Amino acid sequence: MPAKQSGFSAVRPPEDESLFERIAEGIESRGYIALPAALPGPVTESLLHYLGRFQASHFHPARIGRGTGEAHNRFVRRDRIAWMESDDPDAEAWFAWTERLKSYLNRRLFLGLFSFESHFAHYAPGDFYRKHLDAFRGDSNRVLTLVTYLNRGWEPDQGGELVLYAPDDGDEIGKVVPGFGTLVIFLSEEFPHEVLAAGRDRYSVAGWFRINGSINRQLDPPR
Ligand code: OGA
Ligand code: MN
Repeated sequence: MPAKQSGFSAVRPPEDESLFERIAEGIESRGYIALPAALPGPVTESLLHYLGRFQASHFHPARIGRGTGEAHNRFVRRDRIAWMESDDPDAEAWFAWTERLKSYLNRRLFLGLFSFESHFAHYAPGDFYRKHLDAFRGDSNRVLTLVTYLNRGWEPDQGGELVLYAPDDGDEIGKVVPGFGTLVIFLSEEFPHEVLAAGRDRYSVAGWFRINGSINRQLDPPR
């Protein structure tokens, strides 16, 4: 009997194969990978289209953990975020692609990735996000961070780089220019990172694959 395919996890197009394998190799060997202009064009375009439908009022300051006030928050990060709806037609290509990546990584690296959540972030000129981790060991089920960018024609002198730091000694690993369709993927608990202030509006998409944190038959909410 042929295996049933559920909604998102459709057959993997052959063009995914080499990109997914490069991502798997990067995670396996170093725990991170940065790939300039790597997200398939139609996926990036649909994200840009989705973003275009959001009004500025959709974006709000992100919360950064329990017990931190507004002032502290603004000291740490200045960007504004808007969560994506997975059932929005303009999000379909993105969520289908991340679902295929999830299946690939689970088969290839046995990561046990279960759910995926994702938001847009807007950094106005001068906005930043100080050095941070996306997940704390034992305190979160975020396993893998995925970031991509929707900025056409980003020039090197416009700042806004994502800086990645080594897990143990904290040395700088490298800077990623937030150019259109560039992909950055890293282990959420391992790599401190920061967003440097930019000279122009900067749009990113951040997403997290999580393992299943469900207990007592209560479904783990995706955010
Ligand atoms: C985040 C983040 C990086 C970026 O939202 O947690 O680190 O380059 N984003 O926008
Ligand atoms: Mn982060």
